Amino acid sequence: MGSGIAQVAAVAGHPVAILDTNPVALEKSKANLTSVLNKLQEKGKIADATEVLNRFSFVTDMNAFADCGLVIEAIVENLDVKKKVFADLEKIVKDDCILASNTSSLSIASIASACQKAERVIGIHFFNPAPLMALVEIIPAIQTNENLPEQIKALMLQWGKAPVIAKDTPGFIVNRVARPFYSEALRIYEEGIADMATIDWALTTIAGFKMGPFTLMDYIGHDVNYIVTETVFTSFYFDPRYKPALSQKRLLEAGWLGRKSGRGFYNYAEGITMPKATEDTALGNKIVARVIAMLINEAVDAVHWQVATANDIELAMTKGVNYPKGLLQWCDALGADAVLATLDTLYDTYHEDRYRASVLLRKMGVEGKKFF
Ligand SMILES: NC(=O)c1ccc[n+]([C@@H]2O[C@H](COP(=O)([O-])OP(=O)(O)OC[C@H]3O[C@@H](n4cnc5c(N)ncnc54)[C@H](O)[C@@H]3O)[C@@H](O)[C@H]2O)c1
Repeated sequence: MGSGIAQVAAVAGHPVAILDTNPVALEKSKANLTSVLNKLQEKGKIADATEVLNRFSFVTDMNAFADCGLVIEAIVENLDVKKKVFADLEKIVKDDCILASNTSSLSIASIASACQKAERVIGIHFFNPAPLMALVEIIPAIQTNENLPEQIKALMLQWGKAPVIAKDTPGFIVNRVARPFYSEALRIYEEGIADMATIDWALTTIAGFKMGPFTLMDYIGHDVNYIVTETVFTSFYFDPRYKPALSQKRLLEAGWLGRKSGRGFYNYAEGITMPKATEDTALGNKIVARVIAMLINEAVDAVHWQVATANDIELAMTKGVNYPKGLLQWCDALGADAVLATLDTLYDTYHEDRYRASVLLRKMGVEGKKFF
């Protein structure tokens, strides 16, 4: 991630020092950046690759950051390691240097607590690959200077990104709101309502997603996707809405991590025929109604808890995970009352808190209100 973020900053015109404690990672970053930037020049996307490459320095000593205006940390996802790095950084950088973390799952407040000037710390969460994904979630901690989010937003716009501001809550926007895309699909599969090929077919062909949930989980890797779900679940004090699925945990335990290991939900070995979907429209509509209702509920609940504005939630889900349309717009199109009815039917069937409708969805359903 660090190398990709550095590319974005350098293409935007900044001199960038890339630090890694592992010299092999630095060499890899240098080789990747050289190859990618030369390709971008060939395609006419940048004028002069050498000029951009000259903006980089590859360092192993933090003292190289002494004159930086902004440091973006993208190291291992471990709170103790990150806190130590932030405390060390503060001893080196200028008083007005902004310190940012690209963490996906740790609270910014906990990282900021390592600093004397915690008000200069903020989350700047890029999506992988950073040069291609427009979305950037900006996450102020409770300690962050109140002017900093807007300052970072302006900078991200200058870097050609689509910035949104999110509250310092588990999963921020995307990793929270997207959870049902995986978990409700897994639930439908585990209950034997439909097989994975049929669920993937329904969500791509009927709902318009670029990839079905099982194909996407295999693509992301179960080591990453399962851990995000588990982290969000535990961080929300075990709210059943985010409960992970055992079928996915078993894949992780078996080392069936998805495409990268040759096998996940699907088997990618050569000569294996992929399972065929049962293209039953009635079943497909049922699958779509259930997954979309759960996704909309999550997005509406994020509005309710002021995780972000409605506009930022729409932008996050369309730019961060390429959803075919914003979930709140989807709610407006279906009608909040119809989405509410789907959830209430699930709730009445299962008697599980997992299917409880957000209080805001209920209110909008009853009052016949729309988001836009
Ligand atoms: N990979 C993603 O899709 C993704 C997306 C968004 C955010 N993130 C976040 O970005 C961060 C990095 O993720 P990644 O996937 O790039 O990890 P990675 O393991 O690929 O890279 C981390 C790099 O940090 C280096 N490192 C470790 N400790 C260090 C230290 N103390 N000082 C300097 N360098 C150190 C490692 O040598 C390694 O090269 C994590 O916080 C992760 O949550 C990752």
